[in-house]
Amino acid sequence: MRKILIIGNWKMHLNASQASLLVHRLHERIRIYRDIEVVLAPPMLTLQPLSVQLDRRKFRLAAQNAYQKDEGAFTGEVSFTMLRDLVHYVIIGHSERRRLFHEDLDTVRDKVAAAVRNNITPILCVGETKHERDEGEAKQVLHDQLMTALSNLTAAEVKDAAIAYEPAWAISNGSDYIGHEIAKPDDVESAVTYIRAYITDVFGNTAGKQVRVLYGGSVVPDVVGGFLDIPGVDGFLVGGASLNYHTFSDIIGASQRWQRDKGEV
Ligand code: 13P
Repeated sequence: MRKILIIGNWKMHLNASQASLLVHRLHERIRIYRDIEVVLAPPMLTLQPLSVQLDRRKFRLAAQNAYQKDEGAFTGEVSFTMLRDLVHYVIIGHSERRRLFHEDLDTVRDKVAAAVRNNITPILCVGETKHERDEGEAKQVLHDQLMTALSNLTAAEVKDAAIAYEPAWAISNGSDYIGHEIAKPDDVESAVTYIRAYITDVFGNTAGKQVRVLYGGSVVPDVVGGFLDIPGVDGFLVGGASLNYHTFSDIIGASQRWQRDKGEV
């Protein structure tokens, strides 16, 4: 059985003392779960102090981005090599990075390869924009993103990776969940089925079964059960709701209840 994986992507929020306070609150509310892995992806600046503060039985750390070269004259960048003893995961190819920072398919591919080379597990984000969805191109977009991003990986490396389906049109602005579209379980089911089928086709049955596939986009406690009911969904990449210790711990609590009710634990 794959564990549930829940990742809080704090995006560009919280300075070092605010981040430390949030972690303190999360420690109070979140237990050690045998079958749920909880990962925090704070801003780069706070990774180091949080790594000292974190109870590693409860949380793992992820970076939100890194640069694909191991070292050199790349002003302002932080490499996967520099992160290798600090984080378990790095988020790669988030739609905000693709759109706002012009990360193209080849850049995402190089970052995924750099993560694996440095023993860091990639959380590869894939998903279509609203325009691509309206044009009926969603599957083609997923295909192209998966094909390039994973092209330098072996089946064993893909098996250990995580893939987050995050349709760009369903991502919140971080503070409210009103005024933009919310993905329905049917939308997510067809994308997740497609992702697993692609991995199985190209990398074989073991990778297709074991790769973790997450959903991300306006996830709040109320929708957790509906998405976990979708076959092949293993958890969530949470944005705005991960900045509030009530909602983030409620997402974890709802996932645990879902597991218990399904008799999965
Ligand atoms: P929201 O949960 O705020 O929609 O963000 C999703 C996301 O982009 C996580 O990476």
